[in-house]
Amino acid sequence: MNTACVILAAGLGKRMNSNLPKVLHKVCGIPMIQSVIETARQLKGGKIVVVTGKHDDLIKKALASPDISYALQKEPKGTAHALMCARQELRNFQGTLIVLNGDAPLLRAETIKKFLKMHLKNKNAVSVLSFNAENPDDYGRIVRDASGHILSIVEQKDADAMQKKINEVNSGVYAINHNSLSLLDKIKINKNKGEYYLTDIVAAALENELKTSAYCIGAEDEFMGVNTREELYRASMFMKKKLIEKWADKGVTFLDMDSVFMHAGVTIGKDSTVYPNVYLEGRTKIGRGTTIYPNVRIQDSEIGNNVVIKDSTVIEGSTIKNRATVGPFARIRPGSEIGAEARIGNFVELKKAVIGNASKASHLSYLGDTRIGQGVNIGAGTITCNYDGKKKSMTVIEEGVFIGSDSQLVAPVTIGRGAFIGAGSTITKNVPPFALAVSRVEQKTIKGWAKKRQAIINTETKDKGKGKKGSHAK
Ligand code: UD1
Ligand code: CA
Repeated sequence: MNTACVILAAGLGKRMNSNLPKVLHKVCGIPMIQSVIETARQLKGGKIVVVTGKHDDLIKKALASPDISYALQKEPKGTAHALMCARQELRNFQGTLIVLNGDAPLLRAETIKKFLKMHLKNKNAVSVLSFNAENPDDYGRIVRDASGHILSIVEQKDADAMQKKINEVNSGVYAINHNSLSLLDKIKINKNKGEYYLTDIVAAALENELKTSAYCIGAEDEFMGVNTREELYRASMFMKKKLIEKWADKGVTFLDMDSVFMHAGVTIGKDSTVYPNVYLEGRTKIGRGTTIYPNVRIQDSEIGNNVVIKDSTVIEGSTIKNRATVGPFARIRPGSEIGAEARIGNFVELKKAVIGNASKASHLSYLGDTRIGQGVNIGAGTITCNYDGKKKSMTVIEEGVFIGSDSQLVAPVTIGRGAFIGAGSTITKNVPPFALAVSRVEQKTIKGWAKKRQAIINTETKDKGKGKKGSHAK
């Protein structure tokens, strides 16, 4: 069966009170419209047309998908008008048109497939996917006759007291035969809102004696439309819960499912453990048997197997290989790579730093624009001076190097294989392999100095005391 999909996304989304178009607001890290497009793709039908309006440039830029066609609705004159605007894009289309709302990101392709089957089996001209809402206030009500056939869809604003009590509502998903699209021309403007309502296609079909049904399938948490920030939050919570349950099913332990946030693009391997208050964002991939302790945020990073990420660590755009340990309180900035079995400890910041296997930077360091070989020891307080105020330069530390604590490595500089840097050094020149470089001033020791100093202080205080007594006597 030939299908095409139209996604309505031209509304102003006024109730969001936002500068960003509503459909670009994110649910679990993905713009709502992107989730709807993903669902449409899974239907493996033909064309996908997105109807955009005022913010069409922003939406096109955010989606950047070559397989999508766009239709422009210059003014938001309602959902029926939006679909009309897509007609030009569908001029040669024959088959079943599926209409989706761009603000319903939780919809699953399986449910639409089920709905489509019912539509085709019943040979309907128009079908509506409905669900039972706990609070139906924001949705169009499905009005049925005594025998259960749909008569119309009535929006909250137009509903009478009896209709307001109906819990069965319109999901905004429709299946329409291509030759019934002309029904759109019969839809009259809604006087209450001054818009052309797509919901009125049901009544229009019945007037023309065309077969129409509403199918009440699926659960509310799949269909919810997002119109307000509160609904955005609820949709996010629904999606988040589903994601976490999915990964728990696949063998991940969550110590507190409620406090973990994860984006839809994140994957986690078997037997990994996630502590409370962890944020896993973007395209993050976590391997098997890895432990992530509390208050960690990981974005767009690849974490290997049996890695330990200790408390309060931030990792962005980086790779961490098997059995490495990072944190607590580490900051791994984009472009870093931490080798297998390496250890990055507390208060260490990395930026575009490649750390070799089994190398260690255990305390208080800044390592930026750095390539560090295997088995290197970076002492506490080591800093790469990578920026001269104008440009950034590289520090290369070859395998087996020992950097003494509190050293500064002024880039560009290379420390050769197996070399030692004495603690407290400022290194400005390359150090050859297996050399020792020390740049600190030689230590001076003055015996008995402290006692002499105390003696001077004592006489000074005595003299001052005498002066004061003198003035009192006057
Ligand atoms: C709509 C339905 C309602 C249904 C609900 C499901 C109508 C009149 N009402 O209500 O029956 O229960 O969805 O969530 O259709 N849009 C345009 N152009 C416009 C207006 C809207 O493209 O001129 C798009 C919006 O961007 C949005 C979708 O259509 O993605 C739905 O519009 P919205 O204003 O959110 O409709 P609801 O009031 O939620
Ligand atoms: Ca809506």
